[in-house]
Amino acid sequence: MERPPYLRLHFGPTSERQISTKSIVDTIRTQLNGKIDLSGCRLPPIRALAHQLGVSKNTIQIAYDELKILGLIEGRDRAGLYVATREKSLPFSEVIKKVGSPKLKTYPAHPNTLEHSPDEIQLSTVFLDPDILPREKISECYRSVLKNPGLRTHYSSQGLLPLREIIAKRLRDRGMDADARHVVITAGSQPAIDITTRSLQTKIVGTEDPFYFGGKVLMELNGLQTFGLPVDPFVGIDKVIWEQQIRKYRPGLLYLTTNFQNPNGYSYTSEELAHIIEWAHEFGFGLLEDDWGSEMLSYSEFRPGLRALGGKDVLYINSYTKKLLPSLRLGYILGSEKTIDNLVMAKRVSCLGTPALNEYALFEFIDRGHYDTHLKNVQQILDQRYNNCLNLLRELMPPEIKWTTPGGGPILWLEFPKRVSIEQIIQNLKNKKIHLIPTQKTFFKTPHNHGVKIGYAFLKEHQMQKALELLAVELVNELKK
Ligand SMILES: Cc1ncc(COP(=O)(O)O)c(C=O)c1O
Repeated sequence: MERPPYLRLHFGPTSERQISTKSIVDTIRTQLNGKIDLSGCRLPPIRALAHQLGVSKNTIQIAYDELKILGLIEGRDRAGLYVATREKSLPFSEVIKKVGSPKLKTYPAHPNTLEHSPDEIQLSTVFLDPDILPREKISECYRSVLKNPGLRTHYSSQGLLPLREIIAKRLRDRGMDADARHVVITAGSQPAIDITTRSLQTKIVGTEDPFYFGGKVLMELNGLQTFGLPVDPFVGIDKVIWEQQIRKYRPGLLYLTTNFQNPNGYSYTSEELAHIIEWAHEFGFGLLEDDWGSEMLSYSEFRPGLRALGGKDVLYINSYTKKLLPSLRLGYILGSEKTIDNLVMAKRVSCLGTPALNEYALFEFIDRGHYDTHLKNVQQILDQRYNNCLNLLRELMPPEIKWTTPGGGPILWLEFPKRVSIEQIIQNLKNKKIHLIPTQKTFFKTPHNHGVKIGYAFLKEHQMQKALELLAVELVNELKK
């Protein structure tokens, strides 16, 4: 049987002296005699209403008895008291109608690489192989944090201070002007992009073409206008077009991924970075540097990016979700004296705070030296997988196929001749349980590259071999057409 709707009543301001049986009867009667027919609704139990109004159960009992005599309410066996049926009117349950769902914006469909079937080989994913993630060491840190009797029960909106301090120190070691007071902890890079771009006064942002899907769509959701800055992973940026676009759109910000851009794997040259910084001065826009891939570089090298070269007005974001543990969902923004208050406020009104328990555990992990050990291990494995991938490409790919050599990070770009149907290849491989992410929709207009991204951080050598062998067969067939 369906549960009858509960009668929600409002009692105006009262002092104890005013709450009499009569005032309760009058209040309920006024609400039952309104335009809406409330018949069939269940009245609050006597003890609940007595508790609410701070009066005895007897007072409520008398009030309810009077309402019964007035014919406004009625008892139903032992099921409680209900609003009595009115003549010639529909009961409440039939008056209330189902409301329509709110009209939400619709977005271009994009495969979610987190939700794939386990027997599929993910050939385009940017994630690391779960088997190389330091799950045991992380669990150890969580256990230790939970045992600490001094664990604070509250959180800081800006993020745990010791974590911000250790992050700032590591960034200073890399030549960045970084102070713990200017770091905001976020739930990964994605909320960092969200907070920053939502806070902009000038709602126009330039970003790479092809773009990082989650970044562009997020900015548009936040009401920003975006425009594309073409990057060809084989030749770099086209400075003439970049400058034309910047002059045309007069952006408030450029959002750029300096290392291993997603999807094309490109990393900017020093000369390009210097040009970008010069344009920022000349045209007065800000820079948001997404440095998600910096620590996935071979031989632990660090290549200074926009923040290191352009100074503390460059907003810098980075994350532990790809390099350490996706489910940890922690990252950060590094701002400056000028921007920090607004960034903290934007984070506060968006989520109040990030889970302090995760922040403590991450701090422990870095502070105990586990992060550096883990990175060394990741870099070594990535180097091997990268080499293996290059060897396989050389061995298996038909001569017309070319690829980039990013030297680190999780992805490279594989370029096909224009006559190859990418959709057909993706479909044929899907039937063989190889999953490739289509990239053609990540270009602003007509794609200037024709290919796919290959992720080598996730797959074991034998999986990569199988996937590339099958891809090569498809390509050979396509090229024959
Ligand atoms: C370039 C880039 N930036 C940001 C993100 C978001 O990462 P996070 O998981 O840290 O929120 C991604 C995710 O793939 C990405 O590719």
